[in-house]
Amino acid sequence: MQIRDALIMGREFLNLHNIQSANLDAQVLLSKVTGMDRTGLLLQGDRALTAEQQQQYRSLLDRRAWGEPVAYLTGCKEFMGLDFIVTPAVLIPRPDTELMVETALEYLKKSDKGNPLAVDVGTGSGAIAASLAYLVPGLQVWAIDLSNEALEIAKQNARLHRVEDRIHFRQGNLLKPMPLEMKGRISVMTANLPYIPSGDIPGLMSDVKDFEPHLALDGGIDGLDLYRLLIPMAYSFLKPGGLLLMEIGPGQGEPASKILPPDLWQTEIKLDLAGRERLVVAEKNKNQFKQQKDCGFPERKMAATLVFKLNGI
Ligand SMILES: C[S@@+](CC[C@H](N)C(=O)[O-])C[C@H]1O[C@@H](n2cnc3c(N)ncnc32)[C@H](O)[C@@H]1O
Repeated sequence: MQIRDALIMGREFLNLHNIQSANLDAQVLLSKVTGMDRTGLLLQGDRALTAEQQQQYRSLLDRRAWGEPVAYLTGCKEFMGLDFIVTPAVLIPRPDTELMVETALEYLKKSDKGNPLAVDVGTGSGAIAASLAYLVPGLQVWAIDLSNEALEIAKQNARLHRVEDRIHFRQGNLLKPMPLEMKGRISVMTANLPYIPSGDIPGLMSDVKDFEPHLALDGGIDGLDLYRLLIPMAYSFLKPGGLLLMEIGPGQGEPASKILPPDLWQTEIKLDLAGRERLVVAEKNKNQFKQQKDCGFPERKMAATLVFKLNGI
């Protein structure tokens, strides 16, 4: 079979199975099998495939027809212009999440001239942590995940981009694995934690709900359970003026903002390229730091009382 015929056959087969990106997927899968890029495939359409290549291609097409995401089939996904290894142990990094990295980069460029410190909680494939370390020389990142399998992939990605010596990988729940001496010292914290409301999971596309890890998706009744727990912890680790970035879905901007007390945080909601709410940008207020440090966290109510007293209220 020639490349040209294989592409037509693959496209038609995937179309029959209602795969929306049938043409592109057929090209990407044949690239994987032949080692040729997509332009090469189009330019060398009359080249013949070996019997082994035909068999591998058919097997990948079958798996794609059953809904398996292309990134799991190729083992690779591009994010921030870098290639990342992905397996079913990790969520496939989404282009929408680049907004979070771009926001962190902008902030670090403006505000931190030394060797800044960052935390990426729920690191998954490590795409956010490794992109930040790759793009900000001298940045040190703590990359935390509950899943050991995900951390193994994140470590491979850090090695791939030669940033493993500046990323501290830790297994555990939210910020529990953070060294206490880092309190009040972190410049930026990125959190793409699960934020899909539990009730919405059954209605997700099959390639997400049947193939991606549920530990990476389910955010509780309104999707914000983990952010509710994270915010007070994040407050104590960020330095005054430090940034907490949390990815959200459409409709979660207002409820997420309500979890961030305005006396402690300045909050903004950013939209993605499709105009949907995508990112909570919360800056830790500078002028509250002294009182918070005295009180400690998570005793936020005590801290707020002290602020009122100091203000003579
Ligand atoms: C939505 S995925 C994001 C992965 C990656 N940061 C990205 O943007 O592609 C969420 C990740 O959070 C991890 N996670 C879920 N609950 C967690 C918790 N309580 N503490 C730390 N990590 C958690 C999951 O294992 C998963 O890797």
